[in-house]
Amino acid sequence: MAKDEKQVTWGGRFSDRPNLLMQVFGESVSFDKRLAPYDLQGSMGHASMLAHVGLLTDDEFSEIKSGIAELVEEIKSPEFSWKLELEDVHMNLEQALLAKTGAAAKLHTGRSRNDQVATDMRLFFKDACIQLSEKLELAMKAILGLAQKYATLPIPGYTHLQRAQPVTVGHHLLAHLEALGRDHERLSKVADHANVCPLGSGAIAGSTLPLDREFTAKALGFVDREGNPRITANGMDAVADRDVFLEFAMACVNCSLHLSRLAEDVILWNSSEFGYIQLPDTFTTGSSLMPQKKNPDSFELIRGKTGRIVGNLQNLCVAIKGLPLTYNRDLQEDKPPVFDSLDQLSMCLSVLAGSLEDSSFNEERCRKAASDPLLLATDLADYLVEKGVPFRTAHHLIGELVALAEVQRISLPELEQDEAIKICPELGIEWREVFDLNRAFAKREKPGMPGPNQIESRIQHWEKLLLF
Ligand code: ARG
Repeated sequence: MAKDEKQVTWGGRFSDRPNLLMQVFGESVSFDKRLAPYDLQGSMGHASMLAHVGLLTDDEFSEIKSGIAELVEEIKSPEFSWKLELEDVHMNLEQALLAKTGAAAKLHTGRSRNDQVATDMRLFFKDACIQLSEKLELAMKAILGLAQKYATLPIPGYTHLQRAQPVTVGHHLLAHLEALGRDHERLSKVADHANVCPLGSGAIAGSTLPLDREFTAKALGFVDREGNPRITANGMDAVADRDVFLEFAMACVNCSLHLSRLAEDVILWNSSEFGYIQLPDTFTTGSSLMPQKKNPDSFELIRGKTGRIVGNLQNLCVAIKGLPLTYNRDLQEDKPPVFDSLDQLSMCLSVLAGSLEDSSFNEERCRKAASDPLLLATDLADYLVEKGVPFRTAHHLIGELVALAEVQRISLPELEQDEAIKICPELGIEWREVFDLNRAFAKREKPGMPGPNQIESRIQHWEKLLLF
């Protein structure tokens, strides 16, 4: 085998090239080419450090720099030729740079693909968290829009999917908004954890060369609020650790679980049985057979894709479990699940925003459902408590009244006064005033409750965060 037939980056000690099947099996460029902008950014930071410590001459650095600048543009084109036999994005880009300048042969000085890929992915995660946060804000704005519009529209709140107590559409939607707000915070924590530079770890044990790790970290923006460099503390950990992958995948799981539960609420509310919400034609679909159908597919798919996003986290956990330190090729499989979680969640968030923006509540249906007096059975128990009845006794007595009304097939406030008083003398004469929704909401003006002022102040809180 002639020398020039050797594998171009690591072929020195081999007398044969990899079998074609092995090349196809082992390549990652088909998916990690997505990291190309980060890989070039990482190379630029590394090269500037090499020049800083004298491992590249000024001329070599400026050739590498302009070569990288050209590649930054070239990789945007679908014409860019990614070569499977060069395995991955790192070796493809190194060879593409070498075709421009011989100085590129010095680029991999003091660097391994192990710390290179760890760096690329940390840069990727910092960006991905920003992208997702922006999408999340759009979805949150759409929820806020509906919460503003229907802030005081009453609906039943449910536990066990049974009518429990009255709430308002505003209160219910704000509950989802709070959950998504926590997802937003989680994403910024993941970005913060990603913000540590592994370059200089080499394969596992750094390098004998006079690298300046702090310089590289600063060049790549791995810095704290004061601008101090943040670098990984142990070379073996730096190339083996996939914590940020797991944290990112988990943040996606958390957010998609929240979207899925919101989707489920909307799907229920949209059924003929509830009839609380109308969805726009633009995000629903029809049936190929039943002409009357208008299905909430966008919400069903948001719910469905959650399974896939949960699976991606599982995928990573299983891939990492049992790997000895440090880098093992298994870890090449760590990218598709996180790319998929980013892409799917990002689409779910956009679809949610689009679907909710043009949705509207059916006020009549909501009010009718919320006028069920049983929703205020607890308020009646509270009314007795205010008259000195111990809550457990009050609960029992109201339970008896409910049972009596059920037997008589009438609603709770329709019970005859003398029959009601027989069960519970403390009711007095004005007990039916409890069955007034305005009273029920006005009495719920502590933080976290659905009183109109509480809802208004929480809406203002989110307006400040999302709209100004
Ligand atoms: N394509 C590889 C991956 O994604 C890059 C790191 C390869 N390192 C190695 N020692 N083979 O994991």
